Amino acid sequence: MVTTSASPRDGWSSRTAFVLAAIGSAVGLGNLWRFPAEAGQNGGGAFVLFYILCVALIGLPVLLSETLIGRHGQASAPESVRRMARESGASAHWDVLAGMGVLSAFMIVSFYCVVGGWVLYYVGVFINDIAQTGAGGGAFEGRPAEDIEALLPGLFGNGTLMAGLGLVFLAITLFFVMRGVSKGIEWVATWLMPAFFVLLIAITGYGFVTGEAEETIAYLFTFDFSKLTPQVMLAAVGQAFFSLSLGVAGMITYGAYAGREVNLGQTSAIIGGADTAVALIAGLCIFPIVFAAGLSVTAGPGLMFQSLPVAFQNMPFGSVIGFAFFMMVGFAALTSSVALLEVPTSWAMERFGVSRMVSALVVGTGAGVLGVLAALSFNDLAEVRPLAMIPIFANANIFDALDGVTAKIFMPLGAILTCVFVGWVADPALVDGENGIGGWLHQTWRALVRYVCPAVLAVIMGFGLFG
Ligand code: TRP
Repeated sequence: MVTTSASPRDGWSSRTAFVLAAIGSAVGLGNLWRFPAEAGQNGGGAFVLFYILCVALIGLPVLLSETLIGRHGQASAPESVRRMARESGASAHWDVLAGMGVLSAFMIVSFYCVVGGWVLYYVGVFINDIAQTGAGGGAFEGRPAEDIEALLPGLFGNGTLMAGLGLVFLAITLFFVMRGVSKGIEWVATWLMPAFFVLLIAITGYGFVTGEAEETIAYLFTFDFSKLTPQVMLAAVGQAFFSLSLGVAGMITYGAYAGREVNLGQTSAIIGGADTAVALIAGLCIFPIVFAAGLSVTAGPGLMFQSLPVAFQNMPFGSVIGFAFFMMVGFAALTSSVALLEVPTSWAMERFGVSRMVSALVVGTGAGVLGVLAALSFNDLAEVRPLAMIPIFANANIFDALDGVTAKIFMPLGAILTCVFVGWVADPALVDGENGIGGWLHQTWRALVRYVCPAVLAVIMGFGLFG
């Protein structure tokens, strides 16, 4: 039933492939859509500084912990945890930390693809605009800003279109997961991540030259500590975790395809550094354009889907830039949705002894059903409250419930258990054989994993549930 290490197992073809795929997993809607929205709603500089601190002190230690469990186990996430537990003489029930991750990755991918569908919609909108008005002028020539802002609510009101686009995004994701690790997942990462970086740098450069660069830098990098409230700190830790793909067994799953030649300490730093750099560059990309158009930075979720398209209106080549921007977001989202779908797919393959094809199809169908429900919770099912019996989720529709349960319960709990497992339960000899770090760095990492990370995460979780 369980693949043994003797049978040839699909895996990354090189260290670079692993790093690119893991960066592809981390860099996604979290960096491009959520980070600027959160930074804007939480006052800019103070949030940004605290975010960076969270990545360094909480994110990176957990990232290393997850990848090392995977690389040691060379199996699906729950089986990898069981192997390390067994070899450490601990209970195999520690696999619950990864089992929860499998469930949350499944829940997240279903609503993540819905947002991926919104991105597809905007790609279409800009292609249509280029076809109608040509490439030279601004986007949506002659149309009032209200019309452009109304595009998103218009999409939300159309359940069939929204569910359909979400399913298209899921189908593209499924295609690559079905092709396997080295031929599918690695392929998307190695082609789309470089393309993503080129587009990101080009659009940021363009926005910097034509937009409000100075105002942006002052906004993102002026640290006004009076703005650092507990709410802002909570938002920063939550955002750091989501952006680094932690707490849902994603990095255990990807680590399991890494070979012995990979230095996990070093690659964790590269992955975390790249993810943070992209989040900051996304801020430097979006805010100059938004400031130049005189729009508000506190638009939250509407920042990317409503304010930015309005801002493209006044830019030369606005419709081309808009098209390139949403293509770039789509690339980043796809490498993340592929990583999310891989978590339950690799588990089901192993658990039920079925082929990757069958496993991916069954898991993908389930995610599709859940995704359609999530898409319809903006319209036809807007009144459905699936968790009405739980006070903090009483007003949540299906989409919000999927997001809320994973973000407030599963992700922090999964990460706390990961830290306790790696820091206290697993045999230190096994752990140290994997982590690739030594000296003071090793001491610091161990102290963070044992004490700081679980404590901070427990506080976050408490606030999220009761605060
Ligand atoms: N990090 C991804 C992003 O920023 C989203 C995400 C959260 C994710 N958890 C994950 C991706 C687990 C892959 C695996 O968009």
